[in-house]
Amino acid sequence: MGPWGRNMAVRTKLVAGNWKMNGLREEGAALARGLAQRAIAAGRGGPGCELLICPPASLLTTVGGVLSGSGIALGGQDCHAAPNGAYTGDISPEMLADAGCSHVILGHSERRHGHGEGDAVVREKILGAWRAGLVAILCVGETQLQRQAGKAADIVSIQLAGSVPSGAASSNLVVAYEPVWAIGTGLTCTLEDIATIQAGIRALIPSGARILYGGSVNPQNAAGILGLAEVDGALVGGASLDVDSFWAIARACG
Ligand code: PGA
Repeated sequence: MGPWGRNMAVRTKLVAGNWKMNGLREEGAALARGLAQRAIAAGRGGPGCELLICPPASLLTTVGGVLSGSGIALGGQDCHAAPNGAYTGDISPEMLADAGCSHVILGHSERRHGHGEGDAVVREKILGAWRAGLVAILCVGETQLQRQAGKAADIVSIQLAGSVPSGAASSNLVVAYEPVWAIGTGLTCTLEDIATIQAGIRALIPSGARILYGGSVNPQNAAGILGLAEVDGALVGGASLDVDSFWAIARACG
């Protein structure tokens, strides 16, 4: 129980690595092995947060095998809404679960902008993920133009309203605030802006649900970002491809 009363939930931080379309079997296995070794060496408490790795679909089985017993969870980077069917090139939530995943990233900006996914599609995918027993990591965030127009908070609210189905709970939903302009660019939001947006998100999602920040998180900026009260972890792209960097970010959870 926290000082603010009995509804004060303790939210364990989550640091998730999004490998995107990177890695062949040998390097993926080596990266996973390096992380598994650190997690096992760190013992019961781990680095002080939960860890999740989201490799490309081709590496799920390999990486899942290497991570087994380390306490590091496995996730997918996207999925179709349906359990199976004539959807060439897609992967279903049930397939992710069958491959050992507990989580799936949905609505990432590279899906929204690169594949034209809107909130309605993302919403169906979240329902599919829940049907398969997966936790959905829903990504939201504004573009550079939207931020410059002072619309960042509005865009994030609209995305949440359009994509979070009823039935959302802290056990099945994690939100990742990822300003599009900060992803892979080396630019990050100011701590003040992160705190403001994430406090706004907090008011719109189920109590106790975690909110991650993503967008050029690295070992240098991680402590500041993860030290914010409204930040419950990080979604890490580029820096998750290096054992030392990813582990340093995890350790920054304190
Ligand atoms: P980045 O990617 O850390 O390379 O900016 C984050 C993400 O896209 O999830």
